[in-house]
Amino acid sequence: MIGIGMQGSGVLDASVRLPGAECVAACDLYDDRHMLANQIISGATGKTVATTRRYRDLLDNKEIDCVVVAVPDHWHKQIIVDACNAGKDVYCEKPMTHQVEEGFEIIEAARKNNRIVQVGSQRRSSITFAKAKELIEQGTIGEVNSVEAVLGRNSPCGSWVYVPPVDLSPENLDWETWLGDAPRRPFDPLRFARWRAFKDYGEGLSGDLFVHALTGIHYVMGVHAPPQRAQSAGGLFYWKDGREFPDVMSTLYDYPNLCVAVLMTQCTRREGVTRFLGTRGIIEIRDGGQMTVTRQDGQDDAPCYYDTSYPKKSRDAYEKSWHEKNDPKPGAAKPIEGETYIFPANYSELVDHLWDFFESVKTRQPSVEDAVFGNNTSIACHMANYSHFHNSAAVWDASRRRITA
Ligand SMILES: NC(=O)c1ccc[n+]([C@@H]2O[C@H](COP(=O)([O-])OP(=O)(O)OC[C@H]3O[C@@H](n4cnc5c(N)ncnc54)[C@H](O)[C@@H]3O)[C@@H](O)[C@H]2O)c1
Repeated sequence: MIGIGMQGSGVLDASVRLPGAECVAACDLYDDRHMLANQIISGATGKTVATTRRYRDLLDNKEIDCVVVAVPDHWHKQIIVDACNAGKDVYCEKPMTHQVEEGFEIIEAARKNNRIVQVGSQRRSSITFAKAKELIEQGTIGEVNSVEAVLGRNSPCGSWVYVPPVDLSPENLDWETWLGDAPRRPFDPLRFARWRAFKDYGEGLSGDLFVHALTGIHYVMGVHAPPQRAQSAGGLFYWKDGREFPDVMSTLYDYPNLCVAVLMTQCTRREGVTRFLGTRGIIEIRDGGQMTVTRQDGQDDAPCYYDTSYPKKSRDAYEKSWHEKNDPKPGAAKPIEGETYIFPANYSELVDHLWDFFESVKTRQPSVEDAVFGNNTSIACHMANYSHFHNSAAVWDASRRRITA
């Protein structure tokens, strides 16, 4: 286990409880998290493991088959590439990259070393999104050419105003290594805790939250490439605490035959919902797992209002004939069917996602969310930020593997 912070602690706990998975070493630059790792591992298994500040110690350890990586985004690429080169499979947290070009390096490292790389955006293993995919492929809601994902938070914690651990200090944290390739700075506990809000380490709303929405959408819609174009609107309106990213961000994405809108805010609490809009209905997935299917027949439900332009005689004749043809016949009306699906109690898509990873490690079957998948969703996140910061549309140039205006 590499990185035992907010996410890593939960991922570690879930992993060590999976049959067949054993954690044999844990790494973090912050010594208190060595203690945390062993509290988690011993709580689940009664054992403790060796801990270190140096992730390369884990890569040198021949007993280790794979590493689970939950460090801030600016460290993902280096650790994934080093792990692949050391012959380890890797589960790395989302978004896969901090910069566009890193994605292709990761894909190459996984290919060259024949390693499993799985990105930790757990929606890819969600049974609800899998059901939505199945229903859409069966044509349940007709042709889907528009998807929208919305989410709103409205609290300090939901807006990354995390309080650094009280005893964090340069003595128990290797701050210089934590900075990675980012510019050198004096020890800063706020940056350590709130790294998402700073360009040197994170990507703001897009890398933190868009990526989950985009993972579900790419999976359900069978998207295997970055979006063709993105246009963002929004700004930093409320959380003026030194952060470098917008707190309201809405991005419209163009894909072949598909328009995706991702609308997020940190200024109003609003339930997270993903809506697949089809010619024969809507599939709506609520964060937390409930999914509803509402069908539409795609027909007029009243005489068309264009008839207001007819003289009365023609209008009456048209309306009479419309009702004769379309009104339900007595005794023969049927409701249009819809369905609701819910997660079973205690279901965890994170547990399923980790399970999928360890199964891939054992069976050598490709990961459900490999580096190519992770690269496509990461690029979509980078395009949202590119559009915002360049004040222009962001176009994906596939031949040059870069975003342009
Ligand atoms: N899948 C999800 O739902 C989800 C949720 C939250 C966070 N995340 C992702 O998880 C990752 C970690 O986020 P977090 O909120 O847990 O961050 P965090 O700051 O709470 O924890 C990161 C830990 O990594 C350690 N670390 C940093 N660089 C290191 C290095 N080179 N070697 C060893 N340890 C290192 C830090 O000391 C820290 O303890 C991010 O990529 C984030 O986007 C995913």
